[in-house]
Parts: sequence; structure tokens; C-alpha cells
Amino acid sequence: MPEAAPSFSPGLEGVVAAKSRLCQIDGTQGKLYYLGYAIEDLAEHSSFEEVCFLLWRERLPRARELEELRGQLQEYRQDCRDLFDFVGRFPHTARPMDMLRTCVSWLGCRDPHPGDASGEANFRRAVAVTAHFPTAVAAFHRFREKQSPVPPHARLSHAANFLYMLTGKQPSDLAARVMDVALILHADHEMNASTFASLVTASTMSDLYSALTTGVGTLKGPLHGGANEAVVQMLEKIGSVENVESYLSEAFAQKKKIMGFGHRVYKTYDPRARIFKRYADELSRADGDRRFFEINERIEELMQKRVGSHGIYPNVDFYSGIVYRSLGVASDLFTPIFSIARAAGWTAHVLESWQKNRIYRPASVYEGPGPRAYVPLDER
Ligand code: ACO
Repeated sequence: MPEAAPSFSPGLEGVVAAKSRLCQIDGTQGKLYYLGYAIEDLAEHSSFEEVCFLLWRERLPRARELEELRGQLQEYRQDCRDLFDFVGRFPHTARPMDMLRTCVSWLGCRDPHPGDASGEANFRRAVAVTAHFPTAVAAFHRFREKQSPVPPHARLSHAANFLYMLTGKQPSDLAARVMDVALILHADHEMNASTFASLVTASTMSDLYSALTTGVGTLKGPLHGGANEAVVQMLEKIGSVENVESYLSEAFAQKKKIMGFGHRVYKTYDPRARIFKRYADELSRADGDRRFFEINERIEELMQKRVGSHGIYPNVDFYSGIVYRSLGVASDLFTPIFSIARAAGWTAHVLESWQKNRIYRPASVYEGPGPRAYVPLDER
């Protein structure tokens, strides 16, 4: 029997690239689970640190284990002097995602035992890198604002510490909780583009830092994590609720995508978008600035009429940007916040994949010319 020609799936749609115990999506029902726990329950009752433990250790921690992980994150977070020096040397015009990508690479150069590929060494690296991401992003932002970096606070959570290091002020309980939930919602998401890209790098038995550098670089694009910033740019362009209809008509006429809508897996409302929407509503009521929330709601209403029946609904990025904006975060830090959270998922997937590794080496369909004679330079 001749071997069947492999079929080509643009964008690898429908291709199963891994088996994993970590994250499950039901794109028809709009459900998301980490290790079987519904995202709504985790957002309501858990913390980002607890979700990190869940993803890394594949079970919920006991109280003592959670305290231990908090302590480890804190210890790595405190080790930030040379990180400040490194981040302080970036051009202030650098894009924060480019800085972060380079920073992860530098963290690899700073590892005292780069050749230690043991499971325990890689677990320690996962904790350390996750601890350092918020510090790098916050310090870079302060340097470019011509302010000194703020060392981490010994008693604040991962999420609250990020806001503290960014502003130099202890965040309100509401702001700290909203950031914590945002990190929980973004911590993992099955075989998304950046996780897949990280896994490809990891599958060559490269190293964790290289895999994460790949992850950050892949997340940056506006079709993936960069959409949260693009949504707010779109809202600024639209300006008012009255302009939404004409903006959408023009965008559809030009076959432009509406940022924050559509998903490869969800063909209904992304459950994370629902949670972000609730916080966007609450925060905009609290600060009395409802303009962006109302524009978003109008876009949602009109998009539902236009393309809801095609399975195009708000994704996680549609309301997250306006939530971060309400917290006073600069718009080019939205995607870095996504990275701060996804560090947990990327590292968890890489550690899991190394338990049973096989190099990724797919195929392509050749479309070029057939075999032919080489033409010497002077005969062309
Ligand atoms: N606005 C308008 N139409 C859309 C949108 C959108 N946001 N998304 C998809 N469509 C339409 C496409 O035009 C296409 O229509 P057609 O079949 O008539 O040509 C159909 O839906 C399928 O779209 P694809 O782009 O082929 O779907 P794919 O699965 O490849 O892409 C993606 C998914 C990249 C998320 C896409 O929906 C998109 O570009 N959305 C906007 C960017 C965005 O919000 N990205 C964040 C995604 S979530 C995340 O990564 C964190």
C-alpha cells in the first residue's frame, strides 16, 4: 500500500500536537479548566501563586506548600539588583515586550548552573523566572519614566507586588485582587501559539530560558497576546459610542479584523472575557469613566448581530485592556502582563513535555520547481 500523502492544515488547525494533563478547553460550551478546576472557581477562590503550584505540581497545594512557594517567589523576587542594572541599560524607547524577551535570555546567561538539566533545577528556574517577570516589566517602565526602580515588597502577593513596583504605592485591595484574577485568567491556555512555540524550542532539548524567549516573542503579535493593546487603540480611534456603527461598517468593508474578537478554539463567548467584563464594569463605575466600557458593549452588541452566528465572540483580550487601563497601567504593558501570567503556563507545559520528549519536526508540502541542472553564474 503506498503511504497516504500527509494532509496540509493551514495554521495547523485541528492538528493535535501534544497530550497534556494541564489545561482543557471546551470551545463549544465556552468552558476552561486547569487540571479539571473551572476557571470561574479559580478566579473566585484562588490566587495566582496557588494556580502556579497547580500547574507546576498538578494538584492544589496544602497551606504549608502554598506558603513555601510564596516564600520561594519572594526570595527570587528580592534578588533584583543586577536585574535593575540590566533593565536600566535598555533604550527608553524600546518596546516592553522586546525588553522582556531580551531579559529572559539574559536570565539564562546569569544562571549559575546552565548545564544542570535535572527536573529539580528546571523547577527552580520556572519559579525564578516567574518571580522575575513582573520586576523586569515594572522596573523598565519606571526607568523610561525617569524614576528609580522600586524593590519588591516583602509582604505583598505576586500581583500586588507588580502594581507596587510599578507605582511605588501599595495598591488598593480591589486593584490587587483584579490583577491577581487577571494573572489567574491568563496563566495557561492549552496549545496556544506561544505555548506551542515554546514547546518546539524545548523539544530540541534546548533550555527553559530559550523556550520562554520563544514564548514571549510569539505572544507579542497582535493576533495573539498583542490584541489587548490593539483593542484599546481601536477604542481610542472610535472615540464615542455614536461612532461604533460606522467604524465597524468600514472595518468590515475593508475586511479588517475587529481586535478582541474571534478565536481558533472558542466558537462562543470566551469564559475569561466574561470575568474581565464584570471587572471592567465594576472599575469603570468606581472611577466614573464609562466611555470605553460603553463603546465595548456597543461593539459587542453589533458584532453579535453581524458575526455571532459564525461563532465570532469576544475573546480574553476584548475587556482586559480596559481593565488594565482603569488600574492606570500604560497600554504597552498590557501584553507584558499577559506574559507575567503565562510564564506559569509556558514553564508548566515545558516541564511536562520533558517527561516524555520527542523533537517536533513536522513536514511541509513542496511547491517549488522540480530537479534541474545548476546554471553557472556567467550563463544566467
Ligand atoms: N473580526 C472579524 N472577522 C473575524 C475575526 C475578527 N476579529 N476573527 C475571525 N474572523 C472571521 C475571518 O475573517 C474569517 O472569515 P472568512 O471565513 O469569511 O474568511 C473567519 O472568521 C475565520 O477567521 P480566521 O482568521 O481564519 O480564524 P483563525 O482561527 O485563523 O484566527 C484569530 C483566530 C487569530 C484569533 C482571529 O479570530 C483574529 O485575528 N482575531 C483578532 C485578533 C485577536 O483578538 N486575537 C486574540 C486572540 S486570543 C489570544 O490569543 C489571547
